[in-house]
Amino acid sequence: MAFDKSERNIIIITLLLSGLFVFSILYAKGKYKSDLPECLPFDKAYLEPKVEKLDDKTYRVFAVASMWQFQPSQIYITVGSEVDFFLTSKDVVHGFNIAEKNVNMMAVYGGLNKTTVKFDKPGVFKIVCHEYCGIGHQNMQAEVIVNYPEKK
Ligand code: CUA
Repeated sequence: MAFDKSERNIIIITLLLSGLFVFSILYAKGKYKSDLPECLPFDKAYLEPKVEKLDDKTYRVFAVASMWQFQPSQIYITVGSEVDFFLTSKDVVHGFNIAEKNVNMMAVYGGLNKTTVKFDKPGVFKIVCHEYCGIGHQNMQAEVIVNYPEKK
């Protein structure tokens, strides 16, 4: 089978670029210690927003996006904690971005995405929606509050 020369060049360039993309992702994972988001099997239980404290330094958050809010909207944790975020949507596609932590996920109806984040400094970390999802998009945000007393 004979390839045209330009066709062969394009195939080579495509393969090189694909390799570069995979390498970049793995490099960023190592350098920024960011977890690669996973897609997990969806279950209706994940539509119930909640924050679960598994032990002193481990939390599990079921984050639910909908027009136009995140639930829970305030997540209180202690400094040094590791948080598993399980994310889904009740309606359209939303974004889930924590800029300081390199977290960038999509909330998809009927789908479940997961990432793990370690919060080793106190502070307030904004979660914002970064997928245009309608008229209230720009107000759609929540926060992770690290090392603040829990609200009663
Ligand atoms: Cu939700 Cu934009």
